[in-house]
Amino acid sequence: MKYLIANWKMHDVDLESWLKEFLSIEIPLSSLKIRVSSNLFDMSKFIEAMPIESEFLNKPFWMAQDVSQNIDGSHTGQISSKILKKLKTAGCIVGHSEVRESGDSNEIVHQKGIRLKEAEISPIVLCIGESLEILEKNERELFLINQLKSFFKNGLIPDIIAYEPIWAIGTGKSASIDSINNAFKIILKFLLDIDSKDIPILYGGSVSINNIEEILSINSISGCLVGNSSLDGEEFARIAAKF
Ligand code: 13P
Repeated sequence: MKYLIANWKMHDVDLESWLKEFLSIEIPLSSLKIRVSSNLFDMSKFIEAMPIESEFLNKPFWMAQDVSQNIDGSHTGQISSKILKKLKTAGCIVGHSEVRESGDSNEIVHQKGIRLKEAEISPIVLCIGESLEILEKNERELFLINQLKSFFKNGLIPDIIAYEPIWAIGTGKSASIDSINNAFKIILKFLLDIDSKDIPILYGGSVSINNIEEILSINSISGCLVGNSSLDGEEFARIAAKF
């Protein structure tokens, strides 16, 4: 099984034209799961109402971008896993570097994972990835293992891991194949050691129609998490067609 996840972040994508563009391209492979992660909370309803005949956009396919670490109560601006469940979200991203930047520690990301498990929201996509500074200091391995260990503690397991080096996000410069390979080796070794080698690993960071084939040639890659190139339905479908 391969996964392709669009991350629309806070972009105000026009759902109707995006879907029209997306559906204009034929996607040959059927073992591909496509999800769109967005803050547009009306998305599920919209999808329900669309007469879509695409096996890839299996309903529901809307994923949340984040969840609160709190269970319930007075937390202005946050959304609980219980509410996400009611909105019929088909999964949630946690630990995205843009969210970590605004204050999420490894411990908070772990708690968010617990909330998602409690609400039986799946897939839980755990994002990890180092900054350029850490890469240049040769501290990537330590950093990634620390992010992984903190999430996995007490038996918590994500459904998918997305390796997203911060320095490749939104820059138009994807990490090199060698660099992604090295990071994947670190992640795989960690997973092997805890008997969880089957957790799919995705890559994210300036994935586009120009580099998708090369990225998919990486051993043990199970798919991609795509930001900017997912905002255009046609480009996103062209990327999907390369799987
Ligand atoms: P870009 O594809 O725009 O680099 O974004 C990657 C990302 O952050 C996906 O979560």
